[in-house]
Amino acid sequence: MEIVILPTAADVARTAADAIEQQVRSGPSVLGLATGSTPLGTYQELIERHRSGGLSFATSQAFLLDEYLGLASTHPQSYHSVIRGEFTDSVDFGADAVHGLDGTAKDPASEALRYEASIEAAGGVDVQILGIGTDGHIGFNEPMSSLASRTRIKTLTRQTRQDNARFFENPADVPDHVLTQGLGTIGEARHILLLAMGESKAEAIAAAVEGPVAAMCPASALQLHPHVTVLVDEAAASKL
Ligand code: GLP
Repeated sequence: MEIVILPTAADVARTAADAIEQQVRSGPSVLGLATGSTPLGTYQELIERHRSGGLSFATSQAFLLDEYLGLASTHPQSYHSVIRGEFTDSVDFGADAVHGLDGTAKDPASEALRYEASIEAAGGVDVQILGIGTDGHIGFNEPMSSLASRTRIKTLTRQTRQDNARFFENPADVPDHVLTQGLGTIGEARHILLLAMGESKAEAIAAAVEGPVAAMCPASALQLHPHVTVLVDEAAASKL
């Protein structure tokens, strides 16, 4: 793991955008996109570089990490809608180049298999962006997730539902269940960028980077990956 401690959240966003730009400019690329507030600055940077620097995503594809079960892709809080609003609709991905899990699939287990197959058919993920939950989750792999897990249904912890309630009108509207790429799936990305900003992520980052590789901290599985870059601001690095 390469740990890069940067002065501010804006530096984290710029450095992550640099890595993605380099990948995208190298040729047709497969990007793994995360939702949540952490990557927003990175997406803003990339939109800016698209508008003013000619950075094009026209030959790239993107795969989302996870989705709420029960929310249609048109629901404003579905991760499909969120990523379109925050990033992909503002750049030039081709039609059908942004892939996500169907939260309304009648058979979520088959949907999970379909998604795994579509990532493989695209040639796998070149660069995966990740945030981290305050409990150490990545994607929606909550503590005690199997380190080898594949895309599947998970139940959210109370902590994660509380953390994400800010995006919903009513805290009770946060779905209980999700579909998420597994830790094994995420670990197949060729390069992983783990981003964290702020004091609230400091404990999770310390456990992920310096703690034991353990299911209690799903992000610690990244220690086994050959190419992970951890980009943190000073507040998120404060417990290292
Ligand atoms: C969410 C998402 C994760 C995200 C994490 C942190 O629940 N499923 O992909 O990285 O929790 O969210 P935030 O970036 O808003 O702190």
